[in-house]
Amino acid sequence: MTNSTPQTMGQQFGRRSWAEPWKIKMVEPLSMTTRQQRVKALAEAGYNTFLLHSADVYIDLLTDSGTNAMSDRQWAGMMLGDEAYAGSRNYYHLEEAVQGYYGYRYLVPTHQGRGAEHLLSRAAIKPGQWVAGNMYFTTTRLHQELAGATFVDVIIDEAHDAANPHPFKGNMDLDKLEALVQRVGAAQVAYVSLAGTVNMAGGQPVSMANLKAVRQFCDRHGIKLYLDATRMSENALFIQEREEGYADRSIAEIVREFCGYTDGGWVSGKKDSLVNIGGWLAVNEWELFEELRNQVVIFEGLHTYGGMAGRDMEAMAIGIVESMQDDHVRSRVGQVRYLGELLTDWGVPIVQPIGGHAIFLDAKRFYPHLPQDAFPSQTLAAELYLDSGIRSMERGIVSAGRNAQTGDHYYPKLELTRLTIPRRVYTQAHMDVTAEAVKAVYDAREQARGLRMVYEPRYLRFFQAHFEPL
Ligand code: F0G
Repeated sequence: MTNSTPQTMGQQFGRRSWAEPWKIKMVEPLSMTTRQQRVKALAEAGYNTFLLHSADVYIDLLTDSGTNAMSDRQWAGMMLGDEAYAGSRNYYHLEEAVQGYYGYRYLVPTHQGRGAEHLLSRAAIKPGQWVAGNMYFTTTRLHQELAGATFVDVIIDEAHDAANPHPFKGNMDLDKLEALVQRVGAAQVAYVSLAGTVNMAGGQPVSMANLKAVRQFCDRHGIKLYLDATRMSENALFIQEREEGYADRSIAEIVREFCGYTDGGWVSGKKDSLVNIGGWLAVNEWELFEELRNQVVIFEGLHTYGGMAGRDMEAMAIGIVESMQDDHVRSRVGQVRYLGELLTDWGVPIVQPIGGHAIFLDAKRFYPHLPQDAFPSQTLAAELYLDSGIRSMERGIVSAGRNAQTGDHYYPKLELTRLTIPRRVYTQAHMDVTAEAVKAVYDAREQARGLRMVYEPRYLRFFQAHFEPL
């Protein structure tokens, strides 16, 4: 199913590759820059790839969020936007897609994922309560904390080890969940916040067996279970490939079964759902829905658009259907794997197993001479941009932020630089160029000196912080 790397290509007689289940109808020119231009652009951006102008970027692997290429069907859907303030027909198409593919009963549209996280956190958390999650996501945890919760990471230990080959590194550790309940009492756990796949762990999946065990645990203690289904179709592919009994089940069937064990879920539509903006939250319980529907009009927009235009909802409804096609998910994850296998063959340290949406370079092993205080992942993102104009993202100590109580940095075990692959945007040749650039930076690794933070915003500092070379 995966492509071979150049070393093995041609030696294998009768090999069969996957290929993208689409062809290109429209192209967007890329900007090429000189090293001199990049040195200037990076300094102006405070050595933070979030602050670069995209015009100064060649291959943009900052994120897979909102960077997808839409299909001709989705663009056609954009022309069918019903921009009525209330009751747009596109909302009902979206509702049908969410109910059909994710199986949740009541839909609340939001402008993007964090809008959904905000509403769920406000509605489901009482100040002083606790939320348990598999690792954390930046915006998810922040909204839970702003609603007054303390977040507790209950992911299995293997997830914090970049080299550990566990097939389901997104799994929750039931003992950690049990310990939390023993310590604070079940009534003080607002909900369990499960993400499939786990972005910060390297795009790692959760198994169906683990989810079932978490469900049983929640039932035993009367705790709700909500799912961040943002990259759930990618999680479903890993279940299909790795978990017994699922090889013959479709992505759509697996997603439906998975969501069926949860009380509700939310997505950033900017990932799996193949659109550039949008999100939603959907639950099975009427009382919670009523509260969410009430909150959405305060923060997002009326409950039949939630901050999206009618055309955005139509594109997402169509995108949901496309995101559940087995061929699509296979080629999407296959492209990520192609890049990861090249780097692995060349000895570059990356998170293993290769995840669904991105390759995560292991900056601790890449730059063993740099302490975490010198921001190794941020340094690596800067060096890669300087080398080639490729934009990546820090996912280490800068992203982890500070402990709200003590004010100290969180020191995450994982210090990663993410090469995130947008869906249906780049070709295999772009992956080759990327792998070669990473290799060149790896070969020059001993020269890297690290960075110091010279400006730090209060929240989600990775987006806007400034650095200077040490
Ligand atoms: N949940 C997960 C797992 C995410 O990866 C993201 C966003 C969100 C929620 C929030 O959604 O951006 O639509 O508000 N992740 C982006 C990324 C930003 O680059 O990984 P949003």
